[in-house]
Amino acid sequence: MQTQQIDALSLVKARQLYASGDINQIEVGTTRGLQQIHAYLFKDLYDFAGQIRDKNISKGGFRFANSLYLKEVLLAIEKMPATTFKEIIAKYVEMNIAHPFLEGNGRATRIWLDLMLKKNLGRVVNWQYVDKDLYLQAMERSPINDLELRALLEPNLTDKINDREVIFKGIEQSYYYEGYKKEN
Ligand SMILES: Nc1ncnc2c1ncn2[C@@H]1O[C@H](COP(=O)(O)OP(=O)(O)O)[C@@H](O)[C@H]1O
Ligand SMILES: [Mg+2]
Repeated sequence: MQTQQIDALSLVKARQLYASGDINQIEVGTTRGLQQIHAYLFKDLYDFAGQIRDKNISKGGFRFANSLYLKEVLLAIEKMPATTFKEIIAKYVEMNIAHPFLEGNGRATRIWLDLMLKKNLGRVVNWQYVDKDLYLQAMERSPINDLELRALLEPNLTDKINDREVIFKGIEQSYYYEGYKKEN
């Protein structure tokens, strides 16, 4: 299957995750919860859907967590607190550094982030207003310092956690960050 086709089918699954209410069954803030999200988005699309990688990967010269230590790293991340915005972002940044899947980390982990924000702060990110280039720059910078990421996301938090437009435009934006472009 071509990447564009996989992304289009995965986008349908992402919408379904929310539209069906299945999102409410996902564990919040745990590795298992992230695996559940990844499995949901990429079932039948990637043979590694929901599975922790056993290979090393990098992006833009940055090496994500070594696969040999990944299980322990993930156990430590789960234990990180997630009660304040600052703590939740710190936990999200560590999960991005872990990058537990071969592909699909960005899309799955943003949903994982939103679940923590929703449960603990009653807010989610209004991703439709978060610029792609600024977001990706802030993510590249985040292993060194997460200030830029916090400054970008905090003004875009919304308490409209059940608003269809916030949810569905947000999902589209998340797929757009990863190179997906709608045909029409
Ligand atoms: N150089 C980098 N350093 C750290 N994180 C990065 C870097 N480049 C991209 N990222 C993060 O990785 C995500 C992409 O990971 P990937 O596994 O390809 O997910 P997806 O398949 O959903 O695109 C981006 O959304 C961003 O959050
Ligand atoms: Mg990708």
